[in-house]
Amino acid sequence: MERTFLMVKPDGVQRGLIGEVVKRFEQKGFQLVGAKFMVITKEKAEFHYEEHQGKPFFNSLVEFITSGPVFGMVWEGDNVIALSRTMIGKTNSLDAQPGTIRGDYAVHTNLNIIHGSDAPESAEREIGNFFGPDELFSYDKAN
Ligand code: CMP
Repeated sequence: MERTFLMVKPDGVQRGLIGEVVKRFEQKGFQLVGAKFMVITKEKAEFHYEEHQGKPFFNSLVEFITSGPVFGMVWEGDNVIALSRTMIGKTNSLDAQPGTIRGDYAVHTNLNIIHGSDAPESAEREIGNFFGPDELFSYDKAN
């Protein structure tokens, strides 16, 4: 069983897409085990995006992700890391296919609605950056 960190970015929050995002992952069959509405500090944003340090878009990325509230979530399920990336769609807006979240709702690469961890190591690091163990709750599904 895997866990991943997903985050509705400030543009997704402003456009009222939190419910749409949650619905898609619930309907797929994944389990929401943690959620938090928050404004990210610059320090946490820089840690979250540390793999992009030094890239030309890094400063504007940090500025954007700290510019307003985001909706951070931890989701659990079989292969949730890879499957959620498929559901989110490609980073480049020109490559994001219809049917994916970015393909259906995003036009710009830097206003792309949602973030999803890309590997088990980054999922663990990103979950730990935003959630304590006492903020995550597994539970038995009704069916
Ligand atoms: P995300 O996958 O959440 O993580 C890095 C983010 O940087 C990416 O989404 C985009 O929103 C943003 N970004 C902006 N420009 C680029 C770029 N040229 N390549 C990759 N990511 C970019």
